[in-house]
Parts: sequence; structure tokens; C-alpha cells
Amino acid sequence: MHILVVGGAGYIGCHMVKKLLESGQSVTVLDNFSTGHRSSVIGGEIIEGNCGDQTLLDSLFRKRKFDCVMQFASFIQVGESVTDPGKYYRNNTVETLSILESMVRNRVTRFIFSSSAAIFGEPKYVPIDENHPKFPINPYGASKLMVERILEDFDKAHGLRSVSLRYFNAAGADPDGKLGERHDPETHLIPLVLMVASGRRESVGIFGDDYDTPDGTCIRDYIHIIDLCKAHLLAMNYLKDGGQTARFNLGNGEGFSVREVIAAVEASAGKPIRCFSEARRPGDPARLVADSKLARSTLGWNPIYGDLSLIVRHAWAWEQRLAGSIR
Ligand code: UFG
Repeated sequence: MHILVVGGAGYIGCHMVKKLLESGQSVTVLDNFSTGHRSSVIGGEIIEGNCGDQTLLDSLFRKRKFDCVMQFASFIQVGESVTDPGKYYRNNTVETLSILESMVRNRVTRFIFSSSAAIFGEPKYVPIDENHPKFPINPYGASKLMVERILEDFDKAHGLRSVSLRYFNAAGADPDGKLGERHDPETHLIPLVLMVASGRRESVGIFGDDYDTPDGTCIRDYIHIIDLCKAHLLAMNYLKDGGQTARFNLGNGEGFSVREVIAAVEASAGKPIRCFSEARRPGDPARLVADSKLARSTLGWNPIYGDLSLIVRHAWAWEQRLAGSIR
């Protein structure tokens, strides 16, 4: 199959490109390199451009026959989405709509969308299944939920079939050590703690230690990037085999606290991490854990890297490489 990977130079997109190439697919990457890195794209065709550029998209879809489009291009900082919502609605929602409209014009019918646990807002219960109420509490989550709604309507109106994959906390790195997480600025817990271990940061703050959890810190469901990529591959085959438009929550179903993550990094790196308690970060629910039974039963998804120590070990190997190349 020939896959268009939009945002293929970002953290999840670049791992996906590797996985697709390894499974024998042809890949074209569309990325504007605003946050992604050209060097992270290990193969396939690269086209530099904006995914909101309809002229570019139309010409791309006319010249090549894509069997599926995967959309990873997205801004992801929840806090920034509150202070600059337009950036999130324009990039995450409006530009995705441009891709979909161009797909319809050019009769490309399969789409896989990177959605997020942020669409649910404050959890009413955990683990969170697909039917959990959806009341996003920030523009980031709202920008993703709007696309899910657009996808339902595009299926009804145009027969465009899609799978929305709602990631919980994407983490870890390519086990071969070739790729990993490289955000600037970095805001995610695991890479930040690893940067302390490698000496690239002095310390890490724990955002709240008075939550109603066993150790007082927030609990998240960390899902290995390779398991996420496998879910995309399965979703692509599901659509190819005639599967209907669907949405799946992707996590391991097990939560780890901020302190447990720090302890896992200390064990991997073999050194203590300097950390201190800070005020709660606005908009952080105490506990986010996925119920992924539907993805398991419908797609046959079976995450194998659920062990936190393995996720951290792969991310630590990558951080050491990054730290070495920066020094
Ligand atoms: N945390 C800290 N200190 C830090 C950074 C994070 O204590 O310096 C805590 C956070 O408060 C949270 C946990 O570590 O409790 C994980 O935080 P991340 O920023 O790594 O991840 P989030 O759970 O905030 O965000 C993830 C995705 C978002 C998505 C969200 C869904 O990265 O894209 O889940 O709610 F929107």
C-alpha cells in the first residue's frame, strides 16, 4: 500500500514511517518541519509543505494513488492551547479539514487520525472506555474532538472511512535506538526526568503531590510508541478489509504515578533524580487510565511493551544519545 503520513517528522509520525517501511509499505511524508525534524524521517519520499495547503494536497492526491492517509501533524501543548486557542483550532482542526476535503475531491477514502485522551476532559470514571462522556476542558482536547465529529459527518456524506485513535500518554522510543522523542520545548514527564538523569536539566518539578492517589501524585497510562504504531497498522488493515468508521482508546489499562515514573528512571539510569514538589498544573486530572478492550477485540491489538521499566529503558537509551550529540 502507499500511505501518506502527514506530520511524519514528528515524534509519533517518524516511528510510524519506520514501522510502515519495515512492513513493506510505500511512504510519502508531508511535513512543514515546524516542530518535526527532517533527520527523523528514515526513508520514503519527503514533501515539505503545510497540510492546510489545498493546492499542494490536490496535486499530491492527483499525482499519487494513496491507499490511506495518516494524520499526525498537530500541536500538543495543552497549556499553550489555553493561551493561544486559535493556533490549535487552525492547525489541528481546520488544517485537518483541508486534508479531508482534498481527499474527498480526489476520492481517497481511508484516514487514520491521532486523537487524544484529552477529548474526555475530567474523567467521570476510570478506566475510560469509548463511551465515556466527552467534555474536553481545554482547546487542545476540543480541537481533536471536533475532528472526530467531522469524520463522522464525512463518512455519512462522502463515504470517507476513518479510525480515530485516542492516545493516552505516548512514551518510549524505538527499541533499535534510532528514533525517540525530541520536543522543543519538552513538556512531557518521562523525557524531562530523563534529561535530569543525563545532566541536561538540573531538576524536575512534581506538579501536585496532594491528589487523591496512593502517593498523592497524578496517575497516567503510559503507552509505548511501538505499540501505538502497531495499532495504526492494524487500523489501516481494518479499513482495507472494509471496517467501518470507528474510534478506539489506546492505553495499557494500567496507571503509574509521577513518583513511580521518577523511580523507574532512577532504576534505569542508576542515579537519584533531583525533584521537588510544585503547585498543581491547571487542567490535570488525578487519574487517566484507558479501557482498550475495544481495540483489542476489534483490531486484534495486543500491546507488548506495557512494562513501565521497558518504556523508560528505551527512552533512556535515546536520551543518552541525544545528550551525547548535544555535548
Ligand atoms: N508532570 C510533572 N512534572 C512535569 C511534567 C509533567 O509532574 O514537569 C506530570 C503532569 O502533571 C502529569 C504527568 O506528569 O500528571 C504526565 O504529564 P505529561 O505532560 O507527560 O502528559 P499529560 O498527561 O499532561 O498529557 C498527555 C499528552 C497530551 C494529552 C493528554 C491527555 O501528552 O497530549 O495526555 O490528557 F492531551
